Amino acid sequence: MSVYQLRPAPGGWGGGGGAEEGRHAPVMLAEAIDLLHARPAGRYVDGTLGDGGHARHLLEREPTLEVLGVDRDPLTLAATARRLRHFGRRLHTHQGTYDDLAPALAACGWTAVDGILLDLGLSSAQLDDAARGFGFRAGGPLDMRMSAGEGPSAADLVATLDERELAEIIWRYGEEPSARRIAAAIVAERARRPITDATALADLVARVRPRRGGAHPATRTFQALRIAVNRELEHLDRFLARAFDWLAPGARLVIIAYHSLEDRRVKRAFQAWARACTCPPRAPRCTCGGRARARILTRKVVTPAAEEIAANRRARSARLRALEVLAAPEGAA
Ligand SMILES: C[S@@+](CC[C@H](N)C(=O)[O-])C[C@H]1O[C@@H](n2cnc3c(N)ncnc32)[C@H](O)[C@@H]1O
Repeated sequence: MSVYQLRPAPGGWGGGGGAEEGRHAPVMLAEAIDLLHARPAGRYVDGTLGDGGHARHLLEREPTLEVLGVDRDPLTLAATARRLRHFGRRLHTHQGTYDDLAPALAACGWTAVDGILLDLGLSSAQLDDAARGFGFRAGGPLDMRMSAGEGPSAADLVATLDERELAEIIWRYGEEPSARRIAAAIVAERARRPITDATALADLVARVRPRRGGAHPATRTFQALRIAVNRELEHLDRFLARAFDWLAPGARLVIIAYHSLEDRRVKRAFQAWARACTCPPRAPRCTCGGRARARILTRKVVTPAAEEIAANRRARSARLRALEVLAAPEGAA
């Protein structure tokens, strides 16, 4: 069993799925594939198939293994299924969200799997497509919906939420210190003309929010809107509440997060599953009879090596955590 050690984390939070240009490269590929522990004839779920980088390497690692690739974005899913069609029946695909795996597993005739990978956030294809409105430099419409066309877009939120609600979203999901000032500027601007394109919003934020560090001043606002539009934290919370329904004994779960709001949730869930006794720390002896459900494989969060960040800026805020489901729950000490 490999335990990954913490490396210093160059670059700050909030950059995952940022708006830079760049070719697709699967983030922390070697670490993720090693930790998934590809087994002969194993069944794995890639819950965020994206451009298929991780799935492809998993399929290549072990020639009898099968992958169910799930993505909420029908455009990304169709393009990736086409690109990976040479794997034939070893790659199953399903359009939907990773927190609702039951129908996808049932379609494959599977009940539980040997591993699940989540590589959260956006794919390079989504980021680079100006028409999706995720990046603020390309000047596309302010859309940001991963499930193309489903639910309100970022432009809808910017047009309809009141100032307090906008500030709340920008603060909570972007951890943006200037959230109130930005919300006030949005409300003032939209009274003059609708804010419908990504560059217009980015320029507006840049006028009222001082630049701190190297990132564009609108980075956190865009992150916040994207999380709100796609209800990203709700999906992650639902997945974490149900993951053990789908993981077989001995299965691996690997999650790559790109900002602290996601990583904090993953870390807390992993710690809770790995804890046997839940008695108060000062209790003289265990009375809860609690049992650990999983063993954490990454004693400290894994971050990309400096060389990976130099080659792929999108990797800079990635944080990977992994666990193994215990074959039989371990009793409290
Ligand atoms: C960072 S990309 C994954 C990249 C992929 N690992 C690769 O190597 O190409 C994240 C993908 O997850 C999808 N996604 C995000 N949230 C999702 C959710 N709740 N359910 C399913 N797919 C989701 C996005 O549409 C995007 O295609």
